[in-house]
Amino acid sequence: MKVIIVDTYQEISDKAFEIIKDIVVNKKDAVLGLATGSSPIGIYNNMIQDHKENKTDYSNVVTFNLDEYVDLPKEHKQSYYSFMNDNLFYGINVKKENIHIPTGVGVDLEKACLDYENNIGNYEIDVQILGIGSNGHIGFNEPNTPFDSTTHIVTLAEKTRLDNQRFFNDLSEVPTKAITMGIATIVKSKKIILVANGSKKKEAISRTIEGEIGLDCPATILQNHPDCTIIIDKEAASLLKNKYE
Ligand code: GLP
Repeated sequence: MKVIIVDTYQEISDKAFEIIKDIVVNKKDAVLGLATGSSPIGIYNNMIQDHKENKTDYSNVVTFNLDEYVDLPKEHKQSYYSFMNDNLFYGINVKKENIHIPTGVGVDLEKACLDYENNIGNYEIDVQILGIGSNGHIGFNEPNTPFDSTTHIVTLAEKTRLDNQRFFNDLSEVPTKAITMGIATIVKSKKIILVANGSKKKEAISRTIEGEIGLDCPATILQNHPDCTIIIDKEAASLLKNKYE
């Protein structure tokens, strides 16, 4: 696990973007694993600006998103489908048919999970971007999700619903279920970049980097990944005991 500690959110976004750009420039048909939440927005802004200025080409790039709420229509402002269009896809030349986001409405959910997993299996994700929940979740894999899980339906932890309430009018509007890539699906990615900022993430980050690997903090499994970079600011790093670059 490589740990990079920087001063600002912008620096987190810049460092993560450098790694992603290098992959996209060197492999025209790169497969990107994408995340939602506020943490990766800076990376997406960098991708959009760079595409505008340097014409970095995404026309053969394939994307897979980590997760989506169940029973929230695509058109809803807070669906991850809307999030990705509003924060990234509108500003780069990725082709619609190369974008994959799980569907959580109007489908046989069990079948949708299997299909999504099989579809990812047709590719290899070159780099997976991750945020982290304050309870250590990755994607929507809440504490106690088995490490060998594949794409599945989850009941969201109360903590997660409370954390995400800020995007909705009130708690009752926050969906109770989601569809998410499993932990086994995520760790199959060749490279993983996890970004986190702010003191709300300090417990989850210290456990992920320096704690024991355990089901109660899903992100701890990343300690076993051969190519995982964690990029955080000083607030998120404030409980770490060891020294990092
Ligand atoms: C959401 C997403 C995660 C994300 C996490 C943190 O629930 N499913 O993929 O990493 O919460 O979100 P934020 O970056 O807004 O703190």
